[in-house]
Amino acid sequence: MTVLVTRREKFNAGHRLFNPAFTDEHNLEVFGKCSNPSGHGHNYVLEVTVAGEVDPETGYVMDLGILSDVINKQIIQDVDHRNLNIDVEWMRGKIPTAEVMADTFWDRLEEHLPAGLLYRVVVRETDKNWAERRRVL
Ligand code: NI
Repeated sequence: MTVLVTRREKFNAGHRLFNPAFTDEHNLEVFGKCSNPSGHGHNYVLEVTVAGEVDPETGYVMDLGILSDVINKQIIQDVDHRNLNIDVEWMRGKIPTAEVMADTFWDRLEEHLPAGLLYRVVVRETDKNWAERRRVL
């Protein structure tokens, strides 16, 4: 029986959505007020779900303390209170939408988790907007 287990972490970060290949006018058309050069911030919520068999000796799919450590080391400590366009080396050159963040976070987490366990990464930007990357069970 496969069971899903989720850890939620929060961070605050600033960003500006723009494509440097576009003119200012086109950026405004595509990204609206999110392209404002001053940028703006969000209180992000990151949810990471692992899926696997329950270990009969521990009752865990994975120790959530270990999962929390991986999330903090790979993601939170680099992005919290940072500007995602400028301060985060591994986000440079990317447009910091929730979609791109979920995709990029997945790659960083997967490398440091037991093989095959990562199931879903959700980046909640606001109550109304979020993006997720997941694998097919
Ligand atoms: Ni935004």
